Amino acid sequence: MDLPSSDSAASVLIETLSHDGRGVARLGGKTLFVSGALPGEHVGLRYLRRRRRFDEAVATDIRSPSRERVRPVCPHYGVCGGCSLQHLASAAQVAAKERALLEQFAATARIAPACMFPAITGTTWGYRRRARLGVKYAAKKDAVLVGFREKHSSFLADLDRCDVLHPSVGQLLPALRDLIRTLSVHRQIPQVEVAVADHATALVFRHLCPLSPLDLQHLLSFAHSHQLLVYLQPAGPDSVHLLSPNEGRLCYSLPEYGLEIEFLPTHFVQVNGEVNRKLVSRVVELLDPHPDDRVLDLFCGLGNFTLPLARRAGGVLGVEGDAALVAQARHNATINGTENAFFEVADLNDPSSVDGLCRTGFTKLLLDPPRSGAPQVVRQVGRLEVERLVYVSCDPATLARDAAELVRKQGFGLEGIGVVDMFPHTAHVEAVAVFQRKGP
Ligand SMILES: C[S@@+](CC[C@H](N)C(=O)[O-])C[C@H]1O[C@@H](n2cnc3c(N)ncnc32)[C@H](O)[C@@H]1O
Repeated sequence: MDLPSSDSAASVLIETLSHDGRGVARLGGKTLFVSGALPGEHVGLRYLRRRRRFDEAVATDIRSPSRERVRPVCPHYGVCGGCSLQHLASAAQVAAKERALLEQFAATARIAPACMFPAITGTTWGYRRRARLGVKYAAKKDAVLVGFREKHSSFLADLDRCDVLHPSVGQLLPALRDLIRTLSVHRQIPQVEVAVADHATALVFRHLCPLSPLDLQHLLSFAHSHQLLVYLQPAGPDSVHLLSPNEGRLCYSLPEYGLEIEFLPTHFVQVNGEVNRKLVSRVVELLDPHPDDRVLDLFCGLGNFTLPLARRAGGVLGVEGDAALVAQARHNATINGTENAFFEVADLNDPSSVDGLCRTGFTKLLLDPPRSGAPQVVRQVGRLEVERLVYVSCDPATLARDAAELVRKQGFGLEGIGVVDMFPHTAHVEAVAVFQRKGP
C-alpha cells in the first residue's frame, strides 16, 4: 500500500468524536479519522492509511487544545491499543458515550428516548478484573513481552504497568515478564488470562507444550510471593486447573443482596466489579420485581442478575447458552440458599429454543446478550406476555436495532436509556434500556 508520508504542516479542525474514540474531520470532501484528537481542536497529523471513502491519521501536535483535554496517566498511552480516551477528562468521556448512544438510537432506530437515566460510573483506574494479556518472546532482545496489542499494529505493546488493570496485576507486569522468561517453555506461552476476585487474583497460563518440574517450581514460588492463584491451561478451556489444588476459590459479593457469586477464571464476569454492583442495583430497581412476578433472565451467565432478582421476585428463570456457566449458576443458587431461581441451558440464537420459552407466566424480562444482541428473542417477545423489559447491552448498534423491533413490531414503548461506564478510558459503551408494554 502507498502510505503518505508524515504531514506535520497540515492542520485540521476536529468536528466530532467517532464511536471508537477518534477525532473526525472533513478534508477535501473526505472524512478523516484522527487518533488522539478531540472535537474543537486544531491538530497537526500524520497519515496512517488512505482508503477510498475515508482516511486515517494520528495527531502529532495539538495546536489548540480542547478544555476537556487532560494529560494521559499511562506511560504507554498512544502506543498500547488498550485505551483510546485517556486524553479526555472522565466526565467528558461519559458525556461522549451518552451522545454516541443517543446518536445510535436516532440513526438506527429513529427513536428518541423519553428519558435519559443518570450514567452509572465508578473509580476510573484499577477497575479491570478480567483481561487476556498477550505474551511474546522477542528473540532479537532475548526478552519476553507481556501486554496488549499496539494501536495501529498487530505487535504486542511491552508494558511496564497498566493503570486500568486491577493493581494486583497492573503493577506486576515486569515481574510476570521475568517469570515467563525463566520458564523453559517461554516461547510456547501465548497468553495469560487475568481474573480478579474480591479476595484473590488468578492468573491462567496457557502453555503449548509441557512444563518441566523446574518450571512448576518457579510458578509455585511466584504464586506464593505475590499471593496469586496460578492456573495452568495445557489445551482447550476445559483443561484449566489449579497448580496447587484446593488452594482457594474466586468469588465476588453483591452485599446489597447478601450474595456471594463464585466463578472460575475462565468464566464470564462483568469486567468492572464496582460498576457491576451499581448496575445490578439499577437493573433490579428498573425491573421492580414483586413477589407475584415471575422473571425471565436471558443470557444469565453465572446468575449475576438472576440471584439478586430472586431476592424480590416470586421466581426467576435464568437461561444461558454455556452449560458450564449454568452449572455454576445453580451452584451459586445453592450456596446462597436461593430456592426460587432456576436455570436452563439454551441457544438463544435458535428460534426454536426461544419458542420453547414462550410459555405463559413470565411478567418481566431481562436481556443481557453479547455484542451481537438478541434478534431472535426480540422477534418473539410479543408472545411472552411480559409487561416490562430491561435490556443491558455492550453494543449500542445492536441495542438500537433490537429497540426498533421492540417499539415498531412488538408493542413496547421505550421508557429510557442510560450509559454504564463499565470501561473507563476506552470508547466501549455499555448501556441499559427500559421498555414497557403499551396499553391496548
Ligand atoms: C454479556 S454476558 C452476560 C452474562 C450475565 N448476565 C452477567 O451479568 O454476568 C452474555 C452471556 O450470553 C451468553 N451467550 C452468548 N451467546 C448465547 C446464545 N446464543 N445463547 C445463550 N446464551 C448466550 C454468554 O455465554 C454470556 O454468559
